[in-house]
Amino acid sequence: MSEASKLVRKNPPPAIAIGSGKGGVGKTFLSVHLADRAVQQGKRVLLVDADLGLANVDVMLGITAPGNIQQVVDGQAQLSDIVVTHRNGFDVLPGGSGLHELTHLSAMQQRLLLDEMNALTCNYDLVLIDTAAGIGENVLYFTSCAESVLIVLTPDPTSLTDAYALIKVLSRQRDVGKFMVAINQADEVQAQITFRRLLSVADRYLDVVLDFVGFMPEYNKVRAAIQSQQLLHNFSDSSRIDSLNQLLDSILAQPPCVRSGAGMQLFWQRALGNDLGYQSQTDLAV
Ligand SMILES: Nc1ncnc2c1ncn2[C@@H]1O[C@H](COP(=O)(O)OP(=O)(O)OP(=O)(O)O)[C@@H](O)[C@H]1O
Ligand SMILES: [Mg+2]
Repeated sequence: MSEASKLVRKNPPPAIAIGSGKGGVGKTFLSVHLADRAVQQGKRVLLVDADLGLANVDVMLGITAPGNIQQVVDGQAQLSDIVVTHRNGFDVLPGGSGLHELTHLSAMQQRLLLDEMNALTCNYDLVLIDTAAGIGENVLYFTSCAESVLIVLTPDPTSLTDAYALIKVLSRQRDVGKFMVAINQADEVQAQITFRRLLSVADRYLDVVLDFVGFMPEYNKVRAAIQSQQLLHNFSDSSRIDSLNQLLDSILAQPPCVRSGAGMQLFWQRALGNDLGYQSQTDLAV
């Protein structure tokens, strides 16, 4: 854990979950750059790789996880033992443990993970949760329990359909009413058109608020940076970095949503279900 992270805050930090429905649209790319940008703003940041099946964040950043959540669940390690500090100053809780559904954990394992998570997150000012693709149970849990939800999509029609599907299920089944929307791999005009398409269908069928927070153009150096496991600004100084920074600043400047039941304190309790004595308003039964 970084030196800055050793100062313990009293209240649990706000969390932003990053989801998309469709895979491969840039969630992990945006998550790691958001973490880096928030550190530049003086925040202590924990980036959670919520893809518990396949590693994402550690591969993109070229970091080696010293352990995984499965070991914590088995009582062989503490969460703080498996947190890795990236050289740019943010901490990463690695995923990719082969642990497919949190709901498969026993009550004892859930309790352990919950206590560990509550203790860990109190060390940070901001928690970012990079979710897996799809609308599986873990994605819904992780996404619906954060105060703020960022939906990432590209102008690709399948990406739009899948983003809408995720928004729909989160709004109808998990009571999420507000979403930030970022369009990746698009110029400003394409991004506006894509956002308006999503907005028109959401306005018609759902009771949700969508906030357009910006766009990131298609840029070939993104692939090259990812391949060499570097952050984009360490790799290129193009003006496209300005677009990226504008997008990141806009996301970080959004006030956290005040939703009853959201927040890191309840985050893992809700994620792990109701049988720990926590009275949830939702249908997150294990
Ligand atoms: N703005 C961009 N310009 C060019 N390529 C991009 C851009 N954003 C993302 N990519 C490409 O898309 C790939 C997928 O990005 P990323 O891994 O962040 O997506 P993801 O949504 O996290 O995927 P998954 O759902 O599999 O976790 C990257 O490896 C990169 O090659
Ligand atoms: Mg990813």
